[in-house]
Amino acid sequence: MTGAGSRRVVVGVGGGIAAYKACSLIRHFSEAGHDVRVIPTRAALEFVGAATFEALSGNPVTPEVFADVEHVPHVRIGQEADLVVVAPATADLMARAASGRADDLLTATLLTARCPVVFAPAMHTEMWEHPATQANVATLRAHGATVLRPDSGRLTGSDSGAGRLPEPGEIGLLGDVLLERPDALPYDLAGRRVLISAGGTREPLDPVRYLGNRSSGKQGFALARAATHRGAHVTLVAGSSTGLTAPSGVDLVEITTAAQLADEITARASDADVVIMAAAVADFRPVHVADSKIKKDAGEKTTPPAIELTTNPDILRGLVAAREAGDGLAETVIVGFAAETGDDRGGVLDHGREKLARKGCDLLVVNAVGDGKAFGTDDNTGWLLAANGSETALPLGSKTLMASRILDAVTALLPGSSGD
Ligand code: CTP
Repeated sequence: MTGAGSRRVVVGVGGGIAAYKACSLIRHFSEAGHDVRVIPTRAALEFVGAATFEALSGNPVTPEVFADVEHVPHVRIGQEADLVVVAPATADLMARAASGRADDLLTATLLTARCPVVFAPAMHTEMWEHPATQANVATLRAHGATVLRPDSGRLTGSDSGAGRLPEPGEIGLLGDVLLERPDALPYDLAGRRVLISAGGTREPLDPVRYLGNRSSGKQGFALARAATHRGAHVTLVAGSSTGLTAPSGVDLVEITTAAQLADEITARASDADVVIMAAAVADFRPVHVADSKIKKDAGEKTTPPAIELTTNPDILRGLVAAREAGDGLAETVIVGFAAETGDDRGGVLDHGREKLARKGCDLLVVNAVGDGKAFGTDDNTGWLLAANGSETALPLGSKTLMASRILDAVTALLPGSSGD
């Protein structure tokens, strides 16, 4: 019996050195209270023993279909699963799964599962890039599975390149989202170019100090992660972002100031199908940036210096203005964000409506902030306002879940989509 909120999660483990990383993924799901069933391939057991998987999951572990036969496990486990995550997914395992083989318990389970299935590949770069593997990946995606992009970096030997297992924490996060929303990651942004800004800008006062804001970058990074798993080519232009690492497969461009952000976004927007401005951009910057540290007391009694500010360009408004002037971006979906506290002139939603009209973007994501809401948290809530007048509540959920809902709305607006 599984408890309330508890789901049946199958963790498939392929035979690669990254099999040991599956242990933290198993922990992730079992600590969340889910009933975890680990199914290794025979080769996986060369890397990690069944006892480890049994201890971590609390369930028996075998790669064979001829164990526990009276319970028909080769059919039942897949049928009853709410989520199957294969990590690491080796080239051989994906080839067998893509061709519908059922020669061990894991592939039999993959054939009978009707829930979301995630493959987290790990292999050498040559294997990943081989046309045979890429064809198998395409087949698995066409069958409805989510195949993550491997990370780039150091591989087993001295070589490095694309082929590292995505971080188990990231895989676990995607699993959580799919348990909550099974259709959260369709492969519907293939071939699309998505440009996302994230984090906060910092406007220097002197070499030590800056004017900044509380943005953590988490929502923008979650959007980048979800868009890349939906097949998009993602460029993430990121300001300060509390030590977040760029999701696998995303091109990261780092900036500090609003002016740098404006340059990077403006240079790339005309090539993008979607521009999402999730960054918290400083509206003003100091007119003068001191070359050396501003001293509290420069030898004589001083009054605090006044900081003269000047206005930064409004990047989002600039993109919309370019489109209105017929200067490209005619088919680009432009998305803005509004972090609002509400005040005596109106509530959060009132300010959001006013901002959508003022900015002229296609979609505006409105979040309530302050009192510990939104900034730096892992959860988010709000509204999605569209230029056509539709208003959709975004229920409380992880920023990854929120990202998938925002991307649904974006996808529906893309030329050539069924919602077009
Ligand atoms: N934005 C931008 N350039 C700026 C300021 C904001 O592109 N100089 C974008 C943000 O990335 C966000 C949206 O505009 O997508 C709304 O940002 P916000 O700071 O809420 O809007 P403001 O126009 O600055 O309004 P206010 O600060 O008065 O609420």
